[in-house]
Amino acid sequence: MHLEPFGDIYGTDPAAVWRRLLDSGEHVAYDDELDLWLIAGHDLARSVLADTRRFSVPALTPMQQLHPRAAKTLTQLDAPPVIADPPLHARTRAALIAVFATTSTRAEQLWADVVRRRAEQLADHLAHQVAATPWPDVDLVELFCSRFPLYVMLDVLGIPADDMSRIAAWADNFTALTCGRLDDDDQISAANGLLALWDFCRDLVVLRAGIHRNWQPHGLIGDLLSYRDGDDHRLTLPETSALVLTLLVAGWESTAAAVGHALEHGLRDRDRWAQLAVDEHYAAVHTEETLRHSPAIDGQLRITTTDVDLDGTLIPAGSRCLVLIGAANHDPRVFDQPATFQPGRARLSQQLGFGAGAHYCVGAALARIEITTALSVLARRLPDLTLAAGYDRRFRPSVSVRQHTALPATIAVRCPVAHGTLPPVAQP
Ligand code: HEM
Repeated sequence: MHLEPFGDIYGTDPAAVWRRLLDSGEHVAYDDELDLWLIAGHDLARSVLADTRRFSVPALTPMQQLHPRAAKTLTQLDAPPVIADPPLHARTRAALIAVFATTSTRAEQLWADVVRRRAEQLADHLAHQVAATPWPDVDLVELFCSRFPLYVMLDVLGIPADDMSRIAAWADNFTALTCGRLDDDDQISAANGLLALWDFCRDLVVLRAGIHRNWQPHGLIGDLLSYRDGDDHRLTLPETSALVLTLLVAGWESTAAAVGHALEHGLRDRDRWAQLAVDEHYAAVHTEETLRHSPAIDGQLRITTTDVDLDGTLIPAGSRCLVLIGAANHDPRVFDQPATFQPGRARLSQQLGFGAGAHYCVGAALARIEITTALSVLARRLPDLTLAAGYDRRFRPSVSVRQHTALPATIAVRCPVAHGTLPPVAQP
């Protein structure tokens, strides 16, 4: 079995490849081109994600052979591991859970206003762009999807929005460096960007820690420093900086990708788009079905710590495994007619878009608010928005993050008859 994650099919319709795997019954398959074990099937994927004893979370392990200059730059990255295996993970995860709102009620209380304000600002900006010339195609990825979650993360962490452009430039291509395919120049620039972002996070945390002795800085950085309370046994200062870096990166690209998928599903159907403008419950179930049908992270890497017998197949110790979250979410044994986008479908709570077990996404509640709000705000502000004619879907090459390269949209021409804007015909 060859996944060919950088090929045309995976780059436009990864579900076709998941279907092939599931239909063949090969729920554990070895890809000899990638030297990677592919785990499909809902039950296996869930159990591997949750099995922290036999399946380790890899440190920064790029999928491709890096250019020597990019590899050398990465060796200078002295950020300590924080998303790691037990027992370290228990300590860093406790810090995240202590400061992060992980229930929907708490996340709404803390962040709904910030999220709405950013969504409305960007929607206004988008509306102006669309109005500026008669029939422009706007790229929703550039103008909305990728900016919105980054602004939100900066607000949540307590980082000034003035820093947005340089942070975006540094963090761009981070996941492409580890999970995608970049040419030599882009690899070198992505590695430099990552190093610059790490320096920024480290300096910022050290600065805030100095201030923190007399006054608590706002946002999650202040909350993490309060949690640390100067005690290295709880959390060291470099670990605090590494958590800030992780939250910035994890909270940005995956949410940007998810907003793109949710918008595409909404814009493909005029009735859905109209309903999103008026029905918040629908926006929530639309979001949930997007997370199942088109997971923003559809593959997650693990490395076996020991020989593992998985569903009758022996995976040797030290093997790289790709848990295909997308295939799990399309397993027909769990989800009826999995290829159909069906908001409100049965067993939706079993979708694995946010992972499972000890590494379950801490940002899930925030991400749900972001996606739902983005849909409602854009559908209300731009009711006539539609995908550009001849739109051809394509994703950035990656084994993990499924992000549109672009999402060109325009304003639909209103048909006066269909919309009933002509005066009624006089009755005889
Ligand atoms: C729709 C958007 C998002 C998706 C699809 C997503 C998906 C995931 C997945 C699949 C995992 C599990 C990784 C694994 O098992 O190794 C994860 C973990 C994580 N996510 Fe998210 N995520 C999203 C948004 C966010 C946001 C907004 C934040 C933070 C602000 C965040 C922070 C994290 C962190 C820190 C972890 C690691 C947790 C741990 O290992 O203890 N994510 N996410």
